[in-house]
Amino acid sequence: MAAPPTATPEPGRSAAEPVAGVCDPFRAPLCIGALALERRLFMAPMAGITSLAFRRSVRRWGAGLAFTEMISAYGAHYRNRRTLDYLTCGPDEHPLGFQLFGADADVLADAAARCVEAGADVVDLNMACPVRKVVKTGAGAALLGDPDRAAALVAAVVGAVEGRVPVTVKIRSGLREGDEAGRRTAPRLVAAGAAAVCIHPRTASQLYRGRADHAVTFALAADLPVPVIASGDVDGRAAALALLQGGAAAVMLARHALGRPWLFAEILNDAPPPSREARLAEVRRFTGDVMLDMGARSVGYLRQFWPRYRRAGVLDKELAHALMLAPHTAAVRELLGM
Ligand SMILES: Cc1cc2nc3c(=O)[nH]c(=O)nc-3n(C[C@H](O)[C@H](O)[C@H](O)COP(=O)(O)O)c2cc1C
Repeated sequence: MAAPPTATPEPGRSAAEPVAGVCDPFRAPLCIGALALERRLFMAPMAGITSLAFRRSVRRWGAGLAFTEMISAYGAHYRNRRTLDYLTCGPDEHPLGFQLFGADADVLADAAARCVEAGADVVDLNMACPVRKVVKTGAGAALLGDPDRAAALVAAVVGAVEGRVPVTVKIRSGLREGDEAGRRTAPRLVAAGAAAVCIHPRTASQLYRGRADHAVTFALAADLPVPVIASGDVDGRAAALALLQGGAAAVMLARHALGRPWLFAEILNDAPPPSREARLAEVRRFTGDVMLDMGARSVGYLRQFWPRYRRAGVLDKELAHALMLAPHTAAVRELLGM
């Protein structure tokens, strides 16, 4: 276990810069399979959120690894146009994990090979999604109830990527309260070739309610011979450090980083939030990137962020409200003074 930081980094240091001679648990080297990572603070996959522009935004503030949102293996295999868009990866985007969901070994294997061709540094299999439309196909968290199939899917994907990238799996603690399916299934996934396990220790039936039970994370970290990556309720440096100190190899931010990408730098550098000007500049930059990538669709996508930026103190109530009502990109630009 790495020791806690022994010095406060100097102000203004970028999130990516290590401090010579300081034993920093967030910057202790970490390997997932053969992939070497510089920072143990990641951005979790989030459907409808972790677009190219979003991933760039969190990376600017120090995310050591980001993930695409979950991508349908069927869509990738059958070359659905919309799905293939999700396989877009910028040259500045490494290291990047591509997350797949599916329940058919051949389809997942083919989709994983496509992810590698598209530039994935990690292929992650989603065995955590509790959404009905996913679970009823046998994918997502449903796989925790079928460990044989779950292990066979991992083996198929590991075979398909032929050692070019590590294969990881994201799981829940179980399907319903009191169920330890996550902890029971994880060793099978590792035996099948998973190079790391990400755990969101809520049960599938909890969805996103209640507190994440990181006692499960720590038990899993003690059980498994591979890195265990923790997700759930990480809202600042204290929460992130507690997870590393409890045995997690790395920590993922999710909801708390929405509208607050600088949380990465706050945690990594033990620093206060950047100035309001710097935060507003980030909002404008992110908005511009989203518009470039998504065109007219960006107006709807960005509506998820305005209330978050308001809560983070970057936008005032009137501006956030006006942005919610903005009908097109030109109106958004005007309101933000872009
Ligand atoms: C809107 C939303 C979308 C999500 N999409 C995904 C996803 O595509 N794949 C995945 O593995 N987890 C997904 N998650 C779960 C997050 O990655 C994370 O594990 C979870 O939100 C717990 O972290 P938090 O308590 O810090 O939010 C999603 C969560 C939310 C709220």
